[in-house]
Amino acid sequence: MTSAPALNIVLLGPPAAGKGTQARRLVEDWGMVQLSTGDMLRAARSSGTEVGRRVAEVMDRGHLVTDGIVIDLIRERLGQGGARGGFIFDGFPRTLAQADALEEALREMGMRLDAAVEFRVDDEALVERISGRVTCAACGEVYHDRTRPIPADGRCVRCGGTEFTRRADDNAESLRTRLFAYYKQTAPLIGYYHCKGILRPVDGMGGVEDVARAVAATLRLPAAAGA
Ligand code: AP5
Repeated sequence: MTSAPALNIVLLGPPAAGKGTQARRLVEDWGMVQLSTGDMLRAARSSGTEVGRRVAEVMDRGHLVTDGIVIDLIRERLGQGGARGGFIFDGFPRTLAQADALEEALREMGMRLDAAVEFRVDDEALVERISGRVTCAACGEVYHDRTRPIPADGRCVRCGGTEFTRRADDNAESLRTRLFAYYKQTAPLIGYYHCKGILRPVDGMGGVEDVARAVAATLRLPAAAGA
C-alpha cells in the first residue's frame, strides 16, 4: 500500500458499472475505507428483522430504498470515524436529498467531498457485466463468469472461501428497473457535482486495470501504485 493524501470521494455510475470493483482497488492500494450502501443494506436484509425484510423486497425489485434508511446508515458509520485514507462512498448518494444529507454530515464533521468519480459504461456492457457477476459469500470479492472467473481450485483469491453467490437483483427485469431508477433519480447528481466543480468522469468501458489507472489519474494519486 502506498501513502496518498486523504480523499473523500463518491463513486457514481449505473448498476454493474464497476463501482465496487474499483472501490476495492482503492482500499487495497490507498488504504481508503469503502462505504457501500448496497453492502450495508444486504447486511440489514440478512438480519431477519422486519426492516430487513422490507429492504429485501425493495432491493430485489430494483427500486431505491427510502432516503431516511440509507442516510441513517451512512451517518451512523461516519460517526465511527477511522478513515485516515479517506472515505469512498460507493452507491451513495443516489438522490439529491441524499447528496445534500452527505454534504451536511461531512460539514458537521469538519470534512468535505473531494471528488465524484462518474463511471461511463454503455447499457449493453452493463447487461453483460451483471449477468456474469458472482460474489464470494464470505468476503464479497467480485468475480465474473467471463472476465474474472473463480479460480480453478474453487477458492476465493482474497479469503480462500469456497462458497459463491449470485445476487437476487441480478436479473434482466430488476436490471431494467435499476437502470430506470439510475437515470431518473441518480443521474441528476452528475449535474449537481459538476456545478460544485468536483465531477470527474471516467471511461468505464476498458478492462479493470485500465479503469483503475484512469481513476488514479483523475484523482491525481501518485503514479507509483493504484494500477
Ligand atoms: P448496489 O449494491 O449499490 O448496486 P448497484 O449500484 O446496482 O451497483 P452494483 O453493485 O450492481 O455494481 P457495481 O457498479 O458495484 O459493479 P461491480 O464492481 O460489482 O445497490 C443494490 C440495491 O440496493 C439498489 O438497487 C437499491 O435497491 C439499494 N440501494 C443501495 N444504495 C442505495 C441508496 N444510496 N439509496 C437507496 N437505495 C440504495 O461489477 C459488476 C460486474 O462487472 C462484476 O462481475 C465485475 O467483475 C465486472 N466488472 C467490473 N469492472 C469491469 C471492467 N472494467 N471490465 C469488465 N468487467 C468488469
